[in-house]
Amino acid sequence: METVLSGIRSTGHLHLGNYFGALRNYIKMQDEYNCFFFIADLHSLTTHPHPDDFHSGVKTILTEYLASGLDPEKSAIFVQSDVPEIVELYVLLNMIAYKGELERTAAFKEKVRKNPENVNAGLLTYPVLMAADILVHRANKVPVGKDQEQHLEMARLLARRFNNLYGVELFPEPQAFNFGSDLVKVPGLDGSGKMGKSEGNGIYLFDDEKTIHKKVMKAVTDAGPVEQNSKMAEPVENLFTLLKIVSAPETVVQFKEAFNNCTIRYGDLKKQLATDICRHTLPIREKIEEIYKDEAFLQRVIKRGTEKARESASATLYEAKKAVGFRSF
Ligand code: TRP
Repeated sequence: METVLSGIRSTGHLHLGNYFGALRNYIKMQDEYNCFFFIADLHSLTTHPHPDDFHSGVKTILTEYLASGLDPEKSAIFVQSDVPEIVELYVLLNMIAYKGELERTAAFKEKVRKNPENVNAGLLTYPVLMAADILVHRANKVPVGKDQEQHLEMARLLARRFNNLYGVELFPEPQAFNFGSDLVKVPGLDGSGKMGKSEGNGIYLFDDEKTIHKKVMKAVTDAGPVEQNSKMAEPVENLFTLLKIVSAPETVVQFKEAFNNCTIRYGDLKKQLATDICRHTLPIREKIEEIYKDEAFLQRVIKRGTEKARESASATLYEAKKAVGFRSF
C-alpha cells in the first residue's frame, strides 16, 4: 500500500473551501492508502507566534480535522514536534541543501519581500524541514496546492541527492497527489477567487448560524439580470457554485430559471444558500465543540498517532544514519 502524507499549518481555522475541497479527498484516501496527517507546528514558529496562543492553535486545528472526519483508527494523526526523528533528519538534510537553491524558492523570496525584518534561518530552510516531514515516512504521495509544488520538488531533489551521495535507495521521490476533477473548487464570498482565510471571503466550520447568515447576506452580487438568459457576472456565478455544492439539484434549477427570466431576488438566493450551508456545518460544529472539550479523547488520539509516526520515522532515521556513517559504540 502506498503512503500518503499531508502537513497542515497550525494557524487559523478550517473553512468550507478546505472542507468541500481537499478534506473530502483526505477522508476517502484513508481507506485506500497508508495515511499520515500531521500538524506542522514547528513550521509555524518561523513567524514567532505568542507562546500563550501556540498550543491552542494546534488544538483547534486538530479538533477541526477530527470533527471533519479524519479517523485516528485509520490514519496516523500527530503533531510534528512530538516526533523528534523529523528534526534529526532535518539536520542531516540541511547538510546537502544549498543556500543558493533555498534562496531561489518563490515562497522564500515572497516572505523576504513581505517581512524583511525577520529573514531567519528557519525560514530559509523551511523546505528542508518539509522534506524531512515527507522523507522520514518515505511517503510516495503528498497532496499539495500549487503554492507548495516547488517545496515538493525540493523534497524530491534532496531524496535523490541523499540516495546518490550515500549510494542507497532509501528515499522514494514523493509525487504530488493530484485530485484532478475530484477536487471541488469552492469560491469565496467576495466576488472573485477561491475561498480562503481573508476577511469577508470565507465561512469557517466553527461559524454559528447567525454568523453564517450574516456573511452570506453580505456576499458580493451585482444589480441583477436585465436581459433574459444573460451571462452571469463572476460574483453571482460564485454564489451558484456554492449553491450547487450545498443545495438540492432542484433548488439550483429553480434559482437558475429565476435568473434566466430575470425574476431572481438575490436576497432569496442568499437566504437559501445560508440555510443549506448551516445544514451541512451544524453537525460538524457540534462535533468541534464536543471534541475540543474532550481532553482525554484528544490525548488518546495523539498518543496513538505519535506512536505510529515514531515507529515509521525511527525506522527511516536508523537507515539514514547508517548510510551517513554513524555507528554506535
Ligand atoms: N508547507 C505546507 C503548507 O504551508 C505545510 C507542510 C509542512 C507540509 N510540512 C509538510 C505539507 C509536508 C505537506 C507535506 O501548507
